[in-house]
Amino acid sequence: MLSSPIIDSRRLQDQIDALAAISEAPLPVVTRVLFSEADLRGRAFIKERCHETGLSLREDAIGNLFARWSGTDQELLPLGTGSHIDAIPNAGRYDGVVGVLGALEAIRALKQAHFAPRRTIELIVFTAEEPTRFGIGCLGSRLLSGALPAERTAALRDPEGQTLEQWRTRALGAKPELNSVPLAKNAYAGFIELHIEQGPLLEKENIPIGVVEKIAAPSTLRVHLTGVGGHAGAVLMPERHDALLAGAEIALAVEHAALTSGSPDTVATTGVFRIEPGAVNSVPCRAWLEIDLRDTRLSTRNAALERIENAIPEISRRRGVQFQLERLNVDAPANCDSGLIATVIEVCRELALPVKTMVSRAYHDSLFMAQICPTTMIFIPCRGGVSHRPDEYSSPEQIRNGVLVLAHTLAKMAG
Ligand code: GLV
Ligand code: MN
Ligand code: MN
Repeated sequence: MLSSPIIDSRRLQDQIDALAAISEAPLPVVTRVLFSEADLRGRAFIKERCHETGLSLREDAIGNLFARWSGTDQELLPLGTGSHIDAIPNAGRYDGVVGVLGALEAIRALKQAHFAPRRTIELIVFTAEEPTRFGIGCLGSRLLSGALPAERTAALRDPEGQTLEQWRTRALGAKPELNSVPLAKNAYAGFIELHIEQGPLLEKENIPIGVVEKIAAPSTLRVHLTGVGGHAGAVLMPERHDALLAGAEIALAVEHAALTSGSPDTVATTGVFRIEPGAVNSVPCRAWLEIDLRDTRLSTRNAALERIENAIPEISRRRGVQFQLERLNVDAPANCDSGLIATVIEVCRELALPVKTMVSRAYHDSLFMAQICPTTMIFIPCRGGVSHRPDEYSSPEQIRNGVLVLAHTLAKMAG
């Protein structure tokens, strides 16, 4: 085993805290939505840290960053690691960030331990793992893996009708076409993502490390409803075609589809619900909903999806409201690579760290990296299983364990 790389928890925590302060909202809230000013400053912060670490940087046409530590044998395929730094509104500081700054710390520690990789190690910072602006998650890795065609990516629209193509040109400046982003299926020997668990199991069972064998299947729907607005005092109840009420019934149908799917793992959320005109004395004439539905099993996820998609026209017709339904993504689950999982387990055994094999209920860029190369994830506990909230927390010690396992796994694979 490698002479132990020393993880500098203080330096890593300082960087996590510095990045958290680059936010659209005051701390402890972290909000860094794709292509916002905070997202761009966050990217600049990461680029500086990569330069300091002596990595060479490439940025592709959608803004995925690739920071390279060149190996001594250029014939070998590189090994990838990384995650994302964008954050949903009202998020915390660890989701994604631990996999980016933690990987940088792992690389720094390996360098300081005089490790010279034979295989190139590449840190990837993916664009927009979170779906906030365009309604679809894992934009960078989805495009990179070929799962989302370039033309569809360019045409994605935000709630104001601006396309991704318009946004990226404004935010990133002149770039090649998006069709330059997809990578060959054999571009990496493997990919390993370090991430907080975003669930309660590791903490409950007092296990410091999880290794992921499967990532649940996510899907997202967007629904536009157009009813008839009017004066809240003057339009009598039998005459109404209220877009909000149709949306509310749809949201309840979404919940019902998950509760009655027959699988305890089906989860469904109407996380976006906007109405117009948004005045207390006006009947809502338009509504916009975004629905997130997931399961570890494809069959029950698909059955629930079908029920939701059938409920939407039925509810809209009954209420005299026009609907438009868009499937933003309907993804399959990912199976992680058994060889990589075995390597992580071996590293944990050598470090005397208990490890649990687990399923990821959250999605990650690894869902798409698994389509082009052997992939797995290293999980660390987070307090109360809380994530996507400002009080998300993993201790420096918990993070250090994850970074140490990542460093040793990278060394074993790149050695
Ligand atoms: C990722 O952030 C997810 O929603 O699972
Ligand atoms: Mn997230
Ligand atoms: Mn994440």
